[in-house]
Amino acid sequence: MADVRRVSAAETAWLRQAVLRPGGLLLPTGDDVPDVLHLAAYCEGQLVACGNVRPDPAPFPAEGWHWRVRGMATAPEVRGRGIGGAVLAGLVDHARGAGGAVLWCNARIPAQRLYERAGLRTWGEPWVDPQLGPHIVMWTTLRAADWSGVAESPLQISQQVVGALDAD
Ligand SMILES: CC(C)(COP(=O)(O)OP(=O)(O)OC[C@H]1O[C@@H](n2cnc3c(N)ncnc32)[C@H](O)[C@@H]1OP(=O)(O)O)[C@@H](O)C(=O)NCCC(=O)NCCS
Repeated sequence: MADVRRVSAAETAWLRQAVLRPGGLLLPTGDDVPDVLHLAAYCEGQLVACGNVRPDPAPFPAEGWHWRVRGMATAPEVRGRGIGGAVLAGLVDHARGAGGAVLWCNARIPAQRLYERAGLRTWGEPWVDPQLGPHIVMWTTLRAADWSGVAESPLQISQQVVGALDAD
C-alpha cells in the first residue's frame, strides 16, 4: 500500500505536469499559497500520486472557511487501487482539522466517481475547459451545519461565475 505524506509543491510538479497538463500546458499558479497542503503517495520509494488543498472561496455562497482540492493525479500504471482515494482522504481530513466548513473542487467529469466516493456532490452545470475537457464543481460540508441553501439556485449563480472558473 502507498505511504501518503506531506511534501513540497516542487516534489509533485513533474507528476502534475505529466498527468494533468501534458504537452507543455502550464500548471496553474499558486502552488505555494499560504496554508496550502501538498500530499504525495509513494510506492516502494516512487512518487505515484499527489493532490493538494488550500483555502479558496467556492463559486457558491456558503458560510465559513472554504477549502479547495487541486492537482489530483495518479500515475496511470497504479490507478484504480485506492491510492488517489487515500490522498484525497488526507486532504479532506486536513481541511476539516484546520476548521474548514466547505470543501470543493473543479472536477474533471471522468474523475467524478473519485470525489463522490469521498462524499462530494455536484453543484451547477458541467462546463468545458477548452484544453482540459468537461468539468463540474463538486463540494461537501466539513462540519455539521445546515447547508440546505447552497444548492438552491445553482444555475443562476453558475451563469455569473462561469467565465471565472479555472480548471482542476
Ligand atoms: C482521478 C485519479 C486521480 C484517481 O486516482 P486513483 O488512484 O485511480 O483513484 P482510486 O483508485 O482511489 O479511485 C479510482 C476512481 O478514479 C476514477 N478513475 C479511474 N480511472 C480514471 C481515469 N483514467 N481518469 C479519471 N478518473 C479515473 C474512477 O472514478 C474510479 O472510481 P471507480 O473505481 O469507482 O470507477 C486518476 O485516475 C488520475 O490521475 N486521472 C487523470 C487525472 C485526473 O483526471 N485527475 C483529477 C482531476 S479533477
